[in-house]
Parts: sequence; structure tokens; C-alpha cells
Amino acid sequence: MVIAIDGPAASGKSSVARALARRIGWLYVNSGAMYRAVTWLAVSHGVPCDDAGKVLGLLDTTDFSCGMRDGESTILLDGADPDLHLTEPAVNANVSAIASIPEVRRILVEKQRTFAEANDIVMEGRDIGSVVFPETPYKFYIDASPEVRARRRASQGLADTIAARDKIDTTRRTSPLVIAEDAHVVDSSNLTIDGVVGEIVGRLKMKGLALSPNV
Ligand code: DC
Repeated sequence: MVIAIDGPAASGKSSVARALARRIGWLYVNSGAMYRAVTWLAVSHGVPCDDAGKVLGLLDTTDFSCGMRDGESTILLDGADPDLHLTEPAVNANVSAIASIPEVRRILVEKQRTFAEANDIVMEGRDIGSVVFPETPYKFYIDASPEVRARRRASQGLADTIAARDKIDTTRRTSPLVIAEDAHVVDSSNLTIDGVVGEIVGRLKMKGLALSPNV
């Protein structure tokens, strides 16, 4: 079973998806981290992120493997964990270009789907409900006002080009960020993480998903 959580940058979806997965005991999968890992790979090799041929060539010669640890998805690039680099400014600035390359998306979507073969998962991203798992009945779209999102990023001390990323993510040709028709939209602007998780859990129960009684 899959719970899809989509939304724009800094909408709170990572914190919500992780907290929800812990609460219900499902695997948390961060699909954005995969696009970020490819971006870091390109940046650290001096490959221009808008050169699809070069990016794909590099990906082809790299062992990109996904796994799980402590209830969360993990990534290794040629055996090394890129985690510490994934929120660097150069990655933030280039990840939307990488995510616009259709063949990169095809490769990563395939990896994303394999997580659901043996696990119940909470996966967050931009196209999880619309493209990766369109058949799941459990779709959520987390939003927040642009001001709140900018404030959240600033309070994390991270330089991010949220408005520029939003523009590319919503207008790209392949799998743009959209609100899936059957997604439940939650505005997190004035809610805590627990508040959003509570709303999602309530909705899941309403839809008949059997969760353990203490959830
Ligand atoms: O969720 P995030 O901000 O870490 O995602 C980083 C970028 O990756 C985002 O700007 C767009 C892209 N992305 C995507 O295109 N599709 C996904 N399922 C997840 C992320």
C-alpha cells in the first residue's frame, strides 16, 4: 500500500511524511532525495545539469543504489552516501533542471516503484499521486503560502530558490507538479506537523484504511 504526499518546496511535506510513516510504522521514501542525488552527482563531476546527454552518460557509469535503514529510504552513489550534500545551494539551484530530464525521471520512477513491491510506504515528491502511483486511493497534497514556505527555508538556514524551483517544477513537460484529481489538499500554513499528520490519519481512517488501534 502507498500513501502519496505531494506538494511544492518547503510546504512541510518531508517532515509530515516522515512523522506519518513513523506513526503508522510504514517505510518513509523521499523521492526528492533521488533527484537531489543525481544533481549532486552531476555538480560534483562538473557536468552541466542542463546537458541531458552528459547527465545520462554519468548516471550510466555510476552505481546508483537505493536501500532502507531505520524505516527510511537510503541512497548510495558508487557505495558512498551523498546525504550531507543533498541540501547544498548548488544542488538546490540545479535540481529542477535535472528533474526536467524525462529519461532521468524514467530511471528514478522505476526505482521508486520497487520500494512498494515489498513494503507499505509513505512516499513524498511532486508526481507520486499523479504519475508514480496513480492507482493508490491515499493521495495528499500539502501546500502552504509562499511567505510561510520562504520563512521555513530561511529558518533552516538554507539558501534555496523556492520560487524559481516552483516555476520549473510546475511548468515542465514531463510529470509537472499538479494536484491529483482525487488528492486531499491540506494547507499547512497555520498547522503544526502533528496537526497535519493528525488530519491525514483522520482522512485515512475515514477512507477505511485499517491502522493499528493506537495510531
Ligand atoms: O522535495 P524536494 O524539494 O527535496 O525535491 C527536490 C526537487 O526534485 C524538486 O524541486 C523537484 C524534484 N522532484 C520531482 O521532480 N519529482 C519528485 N517526485 C520529487 C522531487
